[in-house]
Amino acid sequence: MEDFLGPCIVVGARGMLGQDLCAALREAGTQTVEMDIPEMDITSLSSVVGVLGKIKPKLVINVAALTDVDGCESQQEQAFRVNATGPENLAMAASNLGSFLVHISTDYVFDGSKNRPYTEDDLPNPLGTYGKSKLEGELGIKRVLTTNYCIIRTQWLYGANGKNFVDTIIGAGKTNKALEIVNDQFGSPTYTVDLSAGIIKLCSIGANGIFHVTNSGYTTWSGFASKIFKLAGLDDVEIQNIDTRRLGRPAPRPLYSVLDNSRFTRLTGMKLPNWEDALGKYLSGRTV
Ligand SMILES: NC(=O)c1ccc[n+]([C@@H]2O[C@H](COP(=O)([O-])OP(=O)(O)OC[C@H]3O[C@@H](n4cnc5c(N)ncnc54)[C@H](OP(=O)(O)O)[C@@H]3O)[C@@H](O)[C@H]2O)c1
Repeated sequence: MEDFLGPCIVVGARGMLGQDLCAALREAGTQTVEMDIPEMDITSLSSVVGVLGKIKPKLVINVAALTDVDGCESQQEQAFRVNATGPENLAMAASNLGSFLVHISTDYVFDGSKNRPYTEDDLPNPLGTYGKSKLEGELGIKRVLTTNYCIIRTQWLYGANGKNFVDTIIGAGKTNKALEIVNDQFGSPTYTVDLSAGIIKLCSIGANGIFHVTNSGYTTWSGFASKIFKLAGLDDVEIQNIDTRRLGRPAPRPLYSVLDNSRFTRLTGMKLPNWEDALGKYLSGRTV
């Protein structure tokens, strides 16, 4: 069978999404080269050009980023180097080689004031450094490439290979009888295995432009925690709802950042599973 996707290079391959994506690509029979820091540092154009020049990939998938949203506020320069300069460097190298670039972005490019699901045509207005640097990454790609790129915005990720809300909340629920959880942020929890399938689908058809891809349905962090406790047999943990301001985190967060997946579904005929089913699947294969 012809390999439509390979040779492919995944950048940020040792991260939470990267590991599930690489596994899915391997399963699809795609020749995949896994890259991460230190073998390849996306903040350095010479590093990117050197590695890509040797491999000459048909497809470059960038899942590398500085993802610590609060940490980005105290490391603004590094956030912009990794999340903005990095993708632009990849775009320049991909452009020279004629490779297709897929890049993962975030709901944090929006300010969360729309109160209805965001489409790809809605105007971004990021609130904090993470969102601003990720938006700059999108714009950098679009400055370099007019075609041959796909930007996939997603949100609220969890997966087996990274620090995530599901595992953290189960750990907290085992040692606390009551927990304060934010109930005024709305989003779609998204399982990295399901997202990987969506990414591969978009790659396989060479989809160009921006796409919103998440598990279906939405909830609040409190609603998410409640479902996690139910499925993990921790129903006795009391959830005390609080608002975002009360938490006093360094980075501002969009309150309503649900992403409308219609464009993705129209083009691919695919809809990612409901977030509750996805969570059940994740927990059934997990010992936490
Ligand atoms: N997690 C979420 O909830 C979420 C939500 C929306 C969008 N996203 C986006 O989804 C993508 C994947 O997120 P994730 O949660 O899987 O992230 P992650 O687990 O933090 O993985 C990111 C990977 O990138 C690597 N990296 C950092 N700086 C690099 C550099 N200069 N050059 C090369 N690699 C570098 C990291 O290495 P080190 O660990 O050594 O730094 C890590 O292996 C990111 O683009 C993120 O912005 C994530």
